[in-house]
This record gives sequence, structure tokens and C-alpha cells, in this order.
Amino acid sequence: MSNQNLKDKIAIVTGAGSGIGAGISKILHDRGATLALCDLFGESAEKTAKNLSNDYLFDSVNVTEKSEIEKFRDKVIDKHGKIDILVSNAGVIGAKGFPERKNYSKQDWDDTFDVNVIGVVNSADAIVDHMKNNKYGKIINIASQGGRKPRGLGDMYRGNVQTPYLVSKAAVIQYTHLLAIELGRFNINVNAVCPGVIWTPIWRQIAENHIEQNPNLKKMSSKEIFDELAVKARTPLGRAQTPEDIGNTVAFFASEDSSEITGQALNVNGGATLD
Ligand SMILES: NC(=O)c1ccc[n+]([C@@H]2O[C@H](COP(=O)([O-])OP(=O)(O)OC[C@H]3O[C@@H](n4cnc5c(N)ncnc54)[C@H](O)[C@@H]3O)[C@@H](O)[C@H]2O)c1
Repeated sequence: MSNQNLKDKIAIVTGAGSGIGAGISKILHDRGATLALCDLFGESAEKTAKNLSNDYLFDSVNVTEKSEIEKFRDKVIDKHGKIDILVSNAGVIGAKGFPERKNYSKQDWDDTFDVNVIGVVNSADAIVDHMKNNKYGKIINIASQGGRKPRGLGDMYRGNVQTPYLVSKAAVIQYTHLLAIELGRFNINVNAVCPGVIWTPIWRQIAENHIEQNPNLKKMSSKEIFDELAVKARTPLGRAQTPEDIGNTVAFFASEDSSEITGQALNVNGGATLD
């Protein structure tokens, strides 16, 4: 167990029911924070919560609906009197397939942006006024390395990239910058974490999309594509990240160790992009 530098802090995590959200929850819990966990699928948030403590609030919250995150905020404040930390982690690949850029449909763009961008906006909107009143807050948005500097995938794949997803994650980073400018004078830090590659349902979907698009990859399983092409061929450290790796960086941004850092987007990607 790590140090308890988040003791007495109340943290909301969105998309807490799976993958990175569950890993973030575990690390914040280990650091002493009290958690309130939500997910589109309430039962998955419940599972993450109950794995950590019988006392944690959990609920089903669709972040695309502002009223749902507002309702959850009210529950958390009713129970704990405050919210110190918001981790906006809920995200989707959005588009079903992996077409050429011009073939993404309006629906693909909407499905992606509704969760990845509007969900982050809604979550911050619901909680910022409360943090402003408290003159304290830590907001951490989960973006992606691809939202900063997408790499051409053409060398390994056929050249298609998940365009709406990458653009949505760039928007998350820009929104993080703008919130940091606005909220700094209220002692609210706003930062983004940019994960590299983590084997979660999102990455399985990406790999399956690659296989569908590229006949040369059909002999590989989705996990082999992840291990060989996404990790080994691209990452100086030569290994995938884990949900807990992302949680460790979130915990840093949630703590006073980073009190002079705001408006930043930090890659946690084993050096896969260098900036
Ligand atoms: N896995 C990776 O390699 C990777 C890399 C970069 C960034 N990310 C980002 O990390 C975050 C977590 O992804 P993950 O890999 O753990 O994926 P995941 O699919 O395992 O988890 C995403 C969670 O978000 C929830 N969610 C989806 N739509 C929602 C909605 N409308 N409202 C509330 N919750 C919703 C899902 O139910 C799920 O529990 C996402 O924002 C993703 O874009 C992941």
C-alpha cells in the first residue's frame, strides 16, 4: 500500500466499472481517498466499489446526461459534505468500425463526442461550482496519447485511424487547458492524463477493428496485435501500461505533490510518443 496522502479527500470517478476506471479507483483508495463511483452500467460501478469497501457510494450515471451526474453529485455531497476530486474517465471508441476518414458517419462522430467530450464537459459543469465555493478542487480528465500527437499507423496497418476518437481526445486536452485558466484563481487544479496502451475492452475493440480492415492481420489474434504491434513495435520501455499505472498519475494530480501543476496533459505511455 502506498502513502495515504489522499486521506479525508472525497473523489468521484466516472466510468469506474471497467479497465482504467477500476484501476484509478483502486489506487485512489490505496492512497486513502473516500470514493464515489459511477458508470453507465451501475452494476459494474458497484463491483468496483464493493471490491474496495462496503461504504462507497456507487450509481448508474450516463455522463452524456447532465442531470444524471448532477444527481450523483448531490448524493455525494449529502453523504460526505464535499467533493475534492473529480476524475472524468468514462470514454468510448464510439465508431463501430474502422473506416477511412471520409467514411465516418455523423453518428460515429456523435457517439464518440457525446461521451468523450460532452461527458467531460457535463461532469465538470456539475461539480465546478461546488469546488469554487470550497476554494479547492482537483479535476483530472483522462485523454489519450493520441489526442496529443497521433502517430501514423500506416506502417503497420492499412492507414486508417480512429479519427473521431483521436479528435475527441484532443478536445479533452484543450478543454483541460481552458478549465485550468478559468479555475486557477479558485485553487482548482485541472490536468489531463494521456494513457498509452492498456489492454481493456476499448483496446480489444481497436484490435478487432484493425483485423476487420486488414486481411494481413487476420492470422493474428486481437491480443497479439496489441502485444506485437501496439506495444513492442512502438514503445521504448517495451511494455503495455496497466490501469494502475494510470491511477498512480491520477493520484499524483489529485495530491498536493502537484499543487503547482495545472493545465497540463501528461503522457503515461512508456515513451511511445516523445514530447
Ligand atoms: N485502454 C487504452 O489503451 C486507453 C488509451 C488511452 C485512453 N484511454 C481512455 O481511458 C478511459 C477508460 O478506458 P478503458 O480503456 O478503461 O475502457 P473501458 O471500456 O474498459 O472502460 C470505459 C468505461 O466507461 C464507461 N462508459 C462508457 N460510456 C459511458 C457513459 N456514457 N457514461 C458513463 N460511463 C460510460 C463504460 O461502461 C466503461 O466502464 C477512456 O476515456 C479511454 O478513452 C484508454
